Amino acid sequence: MSASDFAKTFPLGARPPAPIPNERPLGAVRLLVRFWRNPLDTWTRFNFEYPITQANGVLGRVAVVCEPAAIKRVLVDNAANYRKDPLQLRVLSPGLGKGLLTAEGGDWRKQRRALAPLFTPRMVQAFAPAMVATAEWLVQRWSPLRPGRRLNVAAEMSVATLEVLQRTIFPEGLSRDPRDFANGMSNLVNAIGALHPFDVLGAPDWLPRVGKRSPAPALKFFNDAVDDILAARRARGAEPAQAADKASRDLLTMLLDARDPQTGEALSEEEIRANVVTFIGAGHETTANALTWSLFLLSQNPAWRDEVEREVDEVLGDGPIEAEALEKLPRVRATLDEAMRLYPPAPSLSREAIAADMLAGEKIHPGTLVVISPYVVHRHKLLWRDPDHFDPTRFLPENREAIDRFAYLPFGGGPRLCIGMGFALQEATIFLAAILRSFRLDLAPGWRVAPIQRVTLRPKGGMPMVLQHRRATAMRAA
Ligand code: HEM
Repeated sequence: MSASDFAKTFPLGARPPAPIPNERPLGAVRLLVRFWRNPLDTWTRFNFEYPITQANGVLGRVAVVCEPAAIKRVLVDNAANYRKDPLQLRVLSPGLGKGLLTAEGGDWRKQRRALAPLFTPRMVQAFAPAMVATAEWLVQRWSPLRPGRRLNVAAEMSVATLEVLQRTIFPEGLSRDPRDFANGMSNLVNAIGALHPFDVLGAPDWLPRVGKRSPAPALKFFNDAVDDILAARRARGAEPAQAADKASRDLLTMLLDARDPQTGEALSEEEIRANVVTFIGAGHETTANALTWSLFLLSQNPAWRDEVEREVDEVLGDGPIEAEALEKLPRVRATLDEAMRLYPPAPSLSREAIAADMLAGEKIHPGTLVVISPYVVHRHKLLWRDPDHFDPTRFLPENREAIDRFAYLPFGGGPRLCIGMGFALQEATIFLAAILRSFRLDLAPGWRVAPIQRVTLRPKGGMPMVLQHRRATAMRAA
């Protein structure tokens, strides 16, 4: 189906749920309150219409950059001039410490070098059978459920992606039930991801944040879990892990063995712990959200869903999912890509300018908070046709080349590109195909979907959906 056929079949009337941008910039108090409740509610129309917008306000000097060439300058060409900003570190560091996502300079380089071998294309491919087995495990879990059964798909996807981590990069297991982990992570992002006005203003830590949930119980849960994960790994000693690719090593082994080639220095205990939490945090919520939004968007676009189901049936048949089949699912992949365009799991990247620079024809002063929001860039009027509408055909192979690399950045770009990108795309393709082959999910009647930004971009209150069976599976109840 070509892009124009698609537009004919689906009159682009329905706008998937998203806040309507404000007509004018918000005053300081409203800005702070909305930032706390849902940062997606703070954007103005100008952000979606101009290549760059700069303002001086409660957040200091802020530049929202949307022009692809300027984004490339920040993330690639002049990346050394842009460091992770204090506000982002304030949000993420309580949970993630100084792991790969939050480290800077030499510490970051050392960690990235140490961990890169776990995410080479060869390694990611070697993880495919474990991902397929986990997707089959999910299908078996849902198969006995009666048709019409309501499921919180957001929670189900979280548990499934944690299970993948257990079976791939943490072969020792996560030491806790994935459901407890999913709850713990949800509590943590609700506590740290809601930006309290005092945090935005940089008020001292001793000032009480009235109304803010304490992250302490969730942090204790993670600290205890990490203790147990490390204890289990250390008890194993030097033997290779069974579940990981035999030719390689697992994440914990790499962290424990990592040495800086120049100094021979190992990662500190603190860095090791921070990375365990980082990989659990960054490695499951994001992928779970991409899958949840994909299933929601499919439920709202039945004609496209029919097409994707046909593709899955033809390519996968009834047999086991083979790794080669993943290359033959352009509609499944286009659905994921379009879901991550409209609802990017990591909706906002930010940096602090160290020295002055020029971006999109405007001077950037040192100290400026430079915001690159995939959420805004992906819906920008200068970059996309019908930006707020679901049109997965944009991402079919014949149309992809027209998309600027820096107009679509769900995984970021440059040296700090998501290390797990290949892993996540493979995992999400396998899961979406496996789910669509066996089930059809429709939004629970009456449920109003609303996206909320809490570090990641998730559906507020979860995603209740109604399950129907498409394919007889061995364990289905009568
Ligand atoms: C759909 C899924 C995912 C999305 C949308 C996503 C998105 C991103 C983005 C945008 C960044 C760059 C942040 C920045 O530049 O400030 C990033 C970094 C990172 N991601 Fe992902 N991610 C996903 C899955 C994963 C997975 C599966 C893992 C690990 C198994 C992972 C681990 C990381 C780590 C460790 C970093 C920090 C990299 C560095 O700074 O060197 N992510 N991710």
